[in-house]
Amino acid sequence: MNFALKPFDLRSLGSEKTDALLVFLTSAFKHDKDALSMLIARVIKSGDLTPKAGNLLDIFRPDGMACTRLVLVHMGEGNTTEVRRAVSAAFALLKPAKYKAITLSFLKQPSASALRVAVGTLADASYVFTATKSKPEPRCIQKAIFVLPDERALRAEFDRAVAAVAGIELAKEWGNRPANHATPTHLAHTARELAKFPKIKCDILGPKEVAKLGMGAFQAVAQGSDEPLRFIVLHYNGAAKSSAPVVLVGKGITFDSGGISIKPAAEMDEMKFDMCGAASVLGVFRALADLQPDINVVGLIPACENLPSSRAIKPGDVVTSMSGQTIEILNTDAEGRLVLCDALTYSERFQPRAVVDIATLTGACVIALGAVRSGLFSTDETLSAALVKAGDSSQDLCWPMPLDDDYAEGLKTNFADVANVAGRPGGAITAAKFLQRFAGKFPWAHLDIAGTAWKSGVAKGATGRPVGLLVDYLMALEAKSGKA
Ligand code: BES
Ligand code: MN
Ligand code: ZN
Repeated sequence: MNFALKPFDLRSLGSEKTDALLVFLTSAFKHDKDALSMLIARVIKSGDLTPKAGNLLDIFRPDGMACTRLVLVHMGEGNTTEVRRAVSAAFALLKPAKYKAITLSFLKQPSASALRVAVGTLADASYVFTATKSKPEPRCIQKAIFVLPDERALRAEFDRAVAAVAGIELAKEWGNRPANHATPTHLAHTARELAKFPKIKCDILGPKEVAKLGMGAFQAVAQGSDEPLRFIVLHYNGAAKSSAPVVLVGKGITFDSGGISIKPAAEMDEMKFDMCGAASVLGVFRALADLQPDINVVGLIPACENLPSSRAIKPGDVVTSMSGQTIEILNTDAEGRLVLCDALTYSERFQPRAVVDIATLTGACVIALGAVRSGLFSTDETLSAALVKAGDSSQDLCWPMPLDDDYAEGLKTNFADVANVAGRPGGAITAAKFLQRFAGKFPWAHLDIAGTAWKSGVAKGATGRPVGLLVDYLMALEAKSGKA
């Protein structure tokens, strides 16, 4: 979809040739003398458009206007939740008409995050997955024009929102593809495609290179499958070589059956989404390609399948990680932490300013935080605060979780340096405590996106989270380095 931003002029709005003109208004609406605001004032006076977010009034071929449909959309007070509701309601109304071009005009200047939410909600609502349909029906809307009173004041925000959408859609696309259409090799190919953009480079390591690096934990997960593993290394070089990069590590389990500790059959299909962390890293690089900020970013993706076979790891097996620490694999379904720990060790070589790993790591995190906020674990207060702030500004929310050492008690074992599982209580935290052992040499944060990366049920599909959060985090770093 193509997004554009235009300045606002009530008189010319009437002559806007568009399939649908959506006019968003808040309770603060004051009418002017032009025809459109007189009409709105009459509608409000009549009581036919009550001041609640998502309430609509739809007019077909309004007199003296160039649009096919005029839709008055109430946004209540105009906060982000209300904007989301208003844009969803308007899109749901227009969806059956299959319009190609729509115009969204805001009578009152929205806040930066409200504009962000409007762009994101429209993109999200109109996205369709077609990759594995025999008769694909692609998304209808090709162009969305946003009209604001002061378009210049929000131009940078708008561009960032549009770039984030490109990243979110790439993440959704790969998240949604079934495991036989999204193998580690496919993900590596996508990374190679991204390296065609300016300032992006990529290296792909295969089984031999990974063995040479001594990534025994990552290899152990991959050994149950005939599908070869890939270790994807992406670089975005927007600043001098001397500028320490942020490293993003994405869990790339392209299918998680649980391995020998096999999962129950019900909903096992959803474990194709177990590479959503990896997809979010690819998505962030897609957004960086558009935004070209003056920072350095490294993306690391350990990608493989977790399957049972005669060669698969067994409960009780002990493996040696790249860090030298030995790990007793008590549950082969706790595989995410095994692939991540070697990627964390690998990230030491970049002497990073921060490392953030992103993973659909634990069912326990879904129980703790549901689908609203991702779990945030961090050893660094500045990093943690920056990620919370980025979550708020992008409305891609996260919530800080504890890392007390007492939570690591259950990871003790008689047979290795550490076990890969503790008991069920605090499962999201004990998983983070495991990872922390491999993240001692840099400021580190872990985002558990098990509850937020995809939706189940009728709306089953990847959400593209937390690409929005990560893009805002990185762009805020750029603003800071610009000032220094
Ligand atoms: N990929 C899963 C986590 C998951 C499960 C995400 C359900 C979303 C929904 C992960 O690899 C896993 O299986 N974790 C186990 C850990 C346990 C064995 C300690 C879990 O959460 O059950
Ligand atoms: Mn698992
Ligand atoms: Zn998993």
